[in-house]
Amino acid sequence: MKSASMVAPNLAVWPRTNSDQVRAQRLGETLALPVLRTEYTVDADIDMLLIVGEAGISLQRVAKAAPLPLKVDFGSGGMRHRRRGGQNELLGRAVGVGKRENLRVVDATAGLGRDSFVLADLGCTVVMAERHPVVATLLADGLDRARQAIDPWLSSVGARMTAHAGDARLLSPVTADTIYLDPMFPKRGKSAAVKADLALLQQLLVGSNGDDADALFEWAMDEAAARVVVKRPLRAQPLAGAAPSHQLRGKSIRFDVYVRRAFDTAHSV
Ligand SMILES: C[S@@+](CC[C@H](N)C(=O)[O-])C[C@H]1O[C@@H](n2cnc3c(N)ncnc32)[C@H](O)[C@@H]1O
Repeated sequence: MKSASMVAPNLAVWPRTNSDQVRAQRLGETLALPVLRTEYTVDADIDMLLIVGEAGISLQRVAKAAPLPLKVDFGSGGMRHRRRGGQNELLGRAVGVGKRENLRVVDATAGLGRDSFVLADLGCTVVMAERHPVVATLLADGLDRARQAIDPWLSSVGARMTAHAGDARLLSPVTADTIYLDPMFPKRGKSAAVKADLALLQQLLVGSNGDDADALFEWAMDEAAARVVVKRPLRAQPLAGAAPSHQLRGKSIRFDVYVRRAFDTAHSV
């Protein structure tokens, strides 16, 4: 029997209703995944479903007592809570919010776009790159819904974000002020329980994410951005062993800030 945490999962696309079938078919072709029928019943070979429905695309583990489907929902209570809770202050300070207007950030490891959304909410223009095709699909779907939201706050924050499916290094040459990296989900440990959605993503990314965070960091440092910022677990070594200019420390994570030059304020809008 395969251990859920060690082996890349088998995925399939599932249209929730008959009217979702065309979109599901298209998604299956794009991602080279099998497309199930709406009246699908659980199949032992499928570990995860990419569910296509009227309310968006979500990822669901196939198992008894599996957690709720994972979806990118920038208007969720969790995102609004994070905004009110003030936890975003460190991230904003790390990337340079307030140092110049309309700060341009490349989030080279966008994942589910949570940090990017926080930065866009703080007024940054954010270009996101996500190389895992399924994660990139969830991200693009969430961004589309945010941009089309009736809520003017949500749609205006979404309008400051763009998403690229693919390796961030394809964005070279980067013209942003700051390149932001959050390359690794924290390792599962006995003491640090990983939230259900992060655990699902960790499982999804098994086998697809090489341990190339140092190389991504070296790439970022070679680009023309004024700053490179790396999110790290509090006690982890800096990426590539490179000493940062300074660190901002939270309860469980820290931001390593590499100042390359002063922010260019000449092009502020
Ligand atoms: C820890 S997650 C980022 C979480 C994100 N900060 C958030 O707030 O949702 C790291 C993500 O970076 C992606 N990634 C890693 N290296 C990448 C690269 N070179 N280019 C694009 N995406 C990359 C992985 O596929 C993964 O989804």
